[in-house]
Amino acid sequence: MDDKDWELFKDKLNRKTGIDLQLYKEQQMRRRINNLIGKTEFKSYTTYFNDVVKDKQKFADFIEYLTINVSEFFRTPDKFNKLETDVIPYLLKKTNSLNIWSAGCSIGAEPYSLSIIMKEMTPGKRHRILATDLDIEIIGKAKQGIYTADELRAMRPDRKTKYFTKTPDGKFAIKPEIKSVVEFRRHNLLKDRFENNFDLILCRNVVIYFTEEAKSVLYTNFFKALKPGGILFVGGTESILNARQIGYTTFQPFFYQRPEA
Ligand SMILES: C[S@@+](CC[C@H](N)C(=O)[O-])C[C@H]1O[C@@H](n2cnc3c(N)ncnc32)[C@H](O)[C@@H]1O
Repeated sequence: MDDKDWELFKDKLNRKTGIDLQLYKEQQMRRRINNLIGKTEFKSYTTYFNDVVKDKQKFADFIEYLTINVSEFFRTPDKFNKLETDVIPYLLKKTNSLNIWSAGCSIGAEPYSLSIIMKEMTPGKRHRILATDLDIEIIGKAKQGIYTADELRAMRPDRKTKYFTKTPDGKFAIKPEIKSVVEFRRHNLLKDRFENNFDLILCRNVVIYFTEEAKSVLYTNFFKALKPGGILFVGGTESILNARQIGYTTFQPFFYQRPEA
């Protein structure tokens, strides 16, 4: 597992999936992949890759391992409260139909949490919630909308009863009224074109392995994708170091605003 092998592996992965490991923190990603390959009989990155690529399910599991999909409803509830009490009411003063993007949405818990909030805050009104992720398999899971009790643990019990039905195997299926609002799509934040005109963008717990350069480009692209006055919501450990340089003002900690025109 030498450097030449690593470079070849990265190249193969990029060509097959569009995931460019150059844009991820090298040490952490390599360690993560070393751990995985260490548990197999393969002695090089490329022989591992050549094997795993032959089996659709194995390859999907590998991508899932690489992209780290852990998520839950109302993740970091205190921040979600701020969204409900301060951020969304502020945005709704300007327009009554919000254009929202959950970027790196994983299993869908984040966009569906938003869908619940918007339904409660503006009954009968229609908003757009776009939810994207790099991992096509995880989007499939998000579209199914079936969750374990653990993935719902941060949610108020009344919401659990109201918006989910119990499946025969003890899981929770999200109701169509919440599900139908969310539009899922595959999108690579480090590669694909961005839509614009968003009132609110959420990108939480996604950039942990991105290089500083990749993060800077990403946050600049989000800035351009927001409407003037729009807000970017980031994860609890993901303060943007060069926020001011990009042009953001701080609406509240972890909520960055593109200034009004
Ligand atoms: C830990 S989950 C975060 C889910 C949710 N935002 C939350 O906070 O619970 C990270 C997600 O980011 C996605 N991701 C990683 N790199 C990405 C990229 N370049 N473009 C889009 N999504 C990416 C992964 O596939 C994964 O589903």
